[in-house]
Amino acid sequence: MVGRMVMSANTSKAVQALDASLNEDLDALRRDGLFRPLRVLESAQGPEVDIAGKAVISLSSNNYLGLNTHPRLVEAASRAAFEWGAGTGAVRTIAGTQTLHEELERRLAVFKRTEASLTFQSGYAVNVGVIGSMLDQGDCVVSDKLNHASIIDGIRLTKADRILYEHTDPDDAERALSEARAKGYRRILLVTDGVFSMDGDIAPLPALVERAEHYGAAVMVDDAHATGVLGTNGRGTTDHFGLHGRVALNIGTLSKAVGVVGGYVASSQVVRDYLIHKARPFLFSSSHPPAVVAACIAAVDVLEQEPQLMEQLWSNTRHFKSGLRELGFDIGESETPITPVMCGEAPVAMQLSDLLLERGVFAQGIGFPTVARGRARVRTIVCATHTHEQLDRALLAFEEVGTRLGLIGDRRQA
Ligand SMILES: Cc1ncc(COP(=O)(O)O)c(C=O)c1O
Repeated sequence: MVGRMVMSANTSKAVQALDASLNEDLDALRRDGLFRPLRVLESAQGPEVDIAGKAVISLSSNNYLGLNTHPRLVEAASRAAFEWGAGTGAVRTIAGTQTLHEELERRLAVFKRTEASLTFQSGYAVNVGVIGSMLDQGDCVVSDKLNHASIIDGIRLTKADRILYEHTDPDDAERALSEARAKGYRRILLVTDGVFSMDGDIAPLPALVERAEHYGAAVMVDDAHATGVLGTNGRGTTDHFGLHGRVALNIGTLSKAVGVVGGYVASSQVVRDYLIHKARPFLFSSSHPPAVVAACIAAVDVLEQEPQLMEQLWSNTRHFKSGLRELGFDIGESETPITPVMCGEAPVAMQLSDLLLERGVFAQGIGFPTVARGRARVRTIVCATHTHEQLDRALLAFEEVGTRLGLIGDRRQA
C-alpha cells in the first residue's frame, strides 16, 4: 500500500498519459463484457479448488490426468530441487544444460517415437521458436484458420508468406498447398493443432499429411491438447492416426496433461541440431529448473505405466458430454475432453460462468479475441481425477443456470 502511494505521488505526466491511453482500451473491453478479474486459486489445481474461501468443482484446467499432484511427480520435483538446486542460472547453450535436461529429451523422443526432441520453456515458446526460426522470405506456411495463438504469433515473426485454409478442411488445405507449390517456395510447412484448444475437435491428420506429401510440404502438429489424451499411452494425434515418420514436427507441451510446465518438439536429429542453433526462445531464455525437468521425466514414467488414468479421463469425458447433450446445450463439434458450451455473445458466457461459480462450479467464460466474436462460450475440461458424483453436481448447476439464461429449455422440449 505504502509502495503504491509513493508511486502515485511521484508519477510523471508521461506515466499518467500512458495509463490513461491504456485505460481507454480497457474501457472498450469493459463495454464488451470482456474485462475479467484473474480468478485466484487458494489451493492446488485439482478436481475441486478453493476460490474466495469456497471449494468449487474445477472444469477450467488443462490438468487432464491430474499429474500436477501425482506423488511420483511431486517427489521427483522435491528430490531434484534438493540435489540440483532451485534454478540453472543460464540458457541451455551456455551453461544451462544438465544431464536431467538431456534425459528428459531422450525420454520424450522415445515416447513420441522420433529420433530426437528438444524442450523449450513453454508450449508458446516452442511454437514461436520453431516456426520463427525455420521459415523466412521465400518460404510459405499453410495454416488452419483456427490454429492456436502461439502458432499465429510464430507465423507473425517470419518473413514467410502465409496461406490460411478453412478449419479442418483437407480440400481447402489442398487448394492452399497447390497455390504454394505453384509459387516455387523453398520450404512449405503445413501447420495444424492436433486437438483444437477451444473447440475440442481433432484435425483430419491423415488427409492433411497425404495432401502435404503430394505437394512436397512438411507437416507440423501441435499436440498440446492431444498428448496424454489421444494415442497409445497418450502419444498424441500422430500415434492416434498411425502416422509415425510422416509428421516432421511433433509439438507438445509439458504444461497440460504432463502436469508441469514447458514445451517440446519431437523430430529428427537434424531438426534438433538446427533449433539449438537458431530458435531464439531456446537461445535467449534460461533453461527449466531441475525440479521442473525431474517432474516431467516422472510424468513420462506415469504415462507409460499408468494407462488407467487415460481410461478414467475418457470415461469422465463421455459421462459429462452426454450429460450436457441430454440437457440440450450446444457443445459444438468436440470429440475430446475439451467441451465448449456455446453462448453466442461474450456477456452471456461471462454471466453463465459467474452464475456457475455461485453454484460451486468453476468454468471460465471465453470471448474475443480467444474465440471469434459471436462464438463466446464457457469452456469445460474434465479430468481423470473428477468423480462422476462431482460431474453430476456440475451438470445440475449447468441445468439450473442454463435454463435461467435461456440456453436450454426450448430445445429440450422440442
Ligand atoms: C494448442 C496450444 N498450443 C500451445 C499452447 C501453449 O502451451 P503452454 O501453456 O505450454 O505455453 C497452448 C496453451 O494453451 C495450446 O492450447
